[in-house]
Amino acid sequence: MRLIFLGPPGAGKGTQAEILAEKTGLPRIATGDIFRKALREQTPLGLEAKAYMDKGELVPDDIVTAIVRERILLPDCRHGFILDGFPRTLAQAQSLDALLDEEAMQIDAVIYIDVADEELIARATGRRVCRSCQMPYHITFSPPVKEGVCDACGGTLYQRDDDREETVQNRLNVYKSQTAPLVDYYAKKGILRQIDGSQPIDRVSLDILKVVGIAE
Ligand code: AP5
Ligand code: MG
Ligand code: ZN
Repeated sequence: MRLIFLGPPGAGKGTQAEILAEKTGLPRIATGDIFRKALREQTPLGLEAKAYMDKGELVPDDIVTAIVRERILLPDCRHGFILDGFPRTLAQAQSLDALLDEEAMQIDAVIYIDVADEELIARATGRRVCRSCQMPYHITFSPPVKEGVCDACGGTLYQRDDDREETVQNRLNVYKSQTAPLVDYYAKKGILRQIDGSQPIDRVSLDILKVVGIAE
């Protein structure tokens, strides 16, 4: 199964993609996580990406596409994968299509998580993320059992630099101008599945499991 998670910043892509990855054993490929990891390791890629991420802008298409291409061609993706945060522009979607064509693969569904703007801002600004495994939490909506500590792996939680309110607003604007056109792009291909992301996390998960045919 090959899936794309699409939706505005804070919609719950990471939360839901991680839950599904755990259920299915499929690898989750999250471009934002890849850049944050590179930055922690102070690689040239991480330092270059940081300049864009801190402003809430997109990292250039050629950089992102090359990374995803390399990742999808690794053996653990042979039976499927979950893309979280990619593609994010029409050019990225077209590059992905070209790569999938070459490899005789196709996307089974694009899970589009839809949430209203006011809610997105509250979600992003209250988010805390595990430094080790990247699992997202929320100080109000989805707190860890022990404050500041990841339930899954015991890692420390931190606030992302781009989760300040001004940056979140810019990420939302960038989403609307550059990424939202993908909703139409995939709807026209007949593979878009819209999910009401304003529901509680477990309800959203259930809707996604139904859409991908894992739950009734
Ligand atoms: P990225 O890391 O992908 O960030 P994003 O798209 O802005 O999305 P988020 O991670 O903020 O939100 P999410 O949908 O994953 O929500 P989450 O599950 O965490 O990208 C960061 C940056 O990297 C970009 O700005 C760009 O610079 C660069 N980048 C990445 N990919 C790129 C690409 N392809 N091209 C170019 N540049 C790229 O949930 C959010 C919060 O809400 C959490 O606190 C969570 O606990 C809570 N929550 C989740 N679901 C619910 C619910 N149902 N009810 C209540 N709370 C909930
Ligand atoms: Mg995310
Ligand atoms: Zn963790």
